[in-house]
This record gives sequence, structure tokens and C-alpha cells, in this order.
Amino acid sequence: MRELLSTVLDDPAAWRGDRMAARGDWVVELEPAMVEELEAAVATAAERGVEIFDLGRDDFPLAHTGRRLEAMLGELEGGRGFVLLKGLPVSRWSEAQTRIALWGLGAHLGRPVGQDLAGSLLHDVRDIGRAFGSDRSIRYFQTSHAIRLHTDGGDVFVLGCLRQGARGGRTLVVSAVEVFNEIVRRRPDLAVVLQQDFWMDARGQRADGARCQVLPVYTWHEGRLSVLLKAEYIYSAQRFDDVPRLTAEQVEALELFHRITEEPGMALGLELRPGDVLLASNHTIVHGRTEFEDPPDPADRRHLLRLWLTIPNGRPLPPHYADTREHAETYRQRMPA
Ligand SMILES: [Fe+2]
Repeated sequence: MRELLSTVLDDPAAWRGDRMAARGDWVVELEPAMVEELEAAVATAAERGVEIFDLGRDDFPLAHTGRRLEAMLGELEGGRGFVLLKGLPVSRWSEAQTRIALWGLGAHLGRPVGQDLAGSLLHDVRDIGRAFGSDRSIRYFQTSHAIRLHTDGGDVFVLGCLRQGARGGRTLVVSAVEVFNEIVRRRPDLAVVLQQDFWMDARGQRADGARCQVLPVYTWHEGRLSVLLKAEYIYSAQRFDDVPRLTAEQVEALELFHRITEEPGMALGLELRPGDVLLASNHTIVHGRTEFEDPPDPADRRHLLRLWLTIPNGRPLPPHYADTREHAETYRQRMPA
């Protein structure tokens, strides 16, 4: 029997975007000494000529910056749930150097986990020129569409911006804990519904071939509230005849969730610029983006790199996360050896 949370949660991860925007403590500017250290580490790693995925933390020495990164872990788990790192000198780096840098930063923060069935550890977030509906395995990050607020996989996602694109593509982050609190205040009955099972389309990404996974949107486990939500995939699971039809309450609960996120002041909007790296919790934050337009020259098109990480101070995960493509690997990594 799962525990249910039916009260408002007093937690640093519960915040409103307008109040957050008025503060600046979530922005970390890389100091020149940190950039220097990072460049030296990239050069050392590049010289070794080994496959990027074989580079570990020790191959990427960051004596000073490493301590700053560790301090960020306390914000990602147990704090507000996100950090915006600014000042990666991507304009003077080759794409290969930026990849190594991002990978190295990730190695200091945690352990990268696979983001798809093929186990890809470093994803390119850009429009690959195919419509979402053209293929059932196309995922939103491979398009230029607006992406509704959702969670990724692993404890934390890292999104590094190489190029911004021509127009749009504003990143939105919202505290899912604050949304939960609002739902409890307005419709406690729907807060319960969101802690019950939903069927979610796996989009061909499950190793066991399962077409869907079944789990709640919110889980209250060992004193922490976690969210796992991809509303589009909950709706697209309805294409399968053997999936139970969504109830009116479930639809109402999902729509209330999204309506609250769209209310003035709830979301924090971020213009990710080249050299920015957004790090955010996949347990307390939902993120999305507005639609974007690419410039005609392919070399200028919007391009971000993404990592999913298991972090060393990660929260205890509920048992049903062991059977999700988003968190199975993190769940396994966290089990005692
Ligand atoms: Fe995402």
C-alpha cells in the first residue's frame, strides 16, 4: 500500500517562478579561474584520445570547480532543485570540446544514465526535421515543437546550450511541489487521483518491449514528494485498446496540473544562451519549452546537449520506479552493492 500525501508540503523545492525570478542566487557564473581549469581539463582529456564515455572523473581534474559543483548537489536534492551555470566558453570551443566539457562536469556531479533504449548517454537536443506524429518513436526533444511541462529521467538532467536558434525555444521550469500544494489547496480529491496509477506510452523505449508503463504522477515516499509526468504520453497511451480509458477525474487532474503551471507567476522562464548549462531535478521540477524556429543555415541551428545523471545524494526512490525507463538505472545504481 502506497503512502498518500494529502497536505501542503513545506519544502525548499516548493517555489513560485515570479519570486525565484526576483532572486539571483540560482545563477552561478563561472569565474575565470574555473573556466581556465575547465579548459585545461578538456585539453588533457582530448589529448588522451579516448572515447568520451570512457572518461571518468579522474580523467577530468577539477580541483576548484569540482568543489563548487559538489555544493550544487545540495541545491539539486534538498534545495530548490535547479541551478543555472553560466559562462562555458562554447563560442571558442569546438563542438567536440564542448561535449567533453559537459561530460566532465557531469562526471563530477554524478553518474550518467542511458536516455533511451540504445543507452545513449549524451543526447543532442535539436530539430531533426521530422514531425512528432510521423513516427511513434519520435520524441519531442527531436522536434521544434513546444514541449509541455514534463520530467526527464535520472535524478537530474543537465542541459548545455551550444546554440540558441533564431526565435523562441524559451525554457520553462516549474516547481512540481508548489503545483502539488496548489492542487491540495483547491482540489484535495485530485491530489489523491494524481497519486494513483496512470498508463503512460513508453514510445518504444522500454528494453522489455512493454508498450506502456503504469505509475502515479506524484509519489510520496520516505518523506519526499516526487513527480514523474509526461502528459502527452499518458494521452497517447490511449491509442492501445487494452489500456484502460482515462477517467474523467484523471483528465481533470492532469488538466488542473497544467492549468496551474500556466497561471501567472508559476513558471520561471529562462532564455538559455550559448554557454549556459541548466541543471535540474527530475523529482521536484517539471520543465518544458516554447516552440522555436531555426535559422536557414544548419550551422546556426538550435542545439543543446543533454545528460541524465544519478547523483550521489539522491533521494530514496519508490519501488515502482524500478520499472520505469526514466529511473530504472538510477534505482539499480542506488541499490547497495
Ligand atoms: Fe525534457
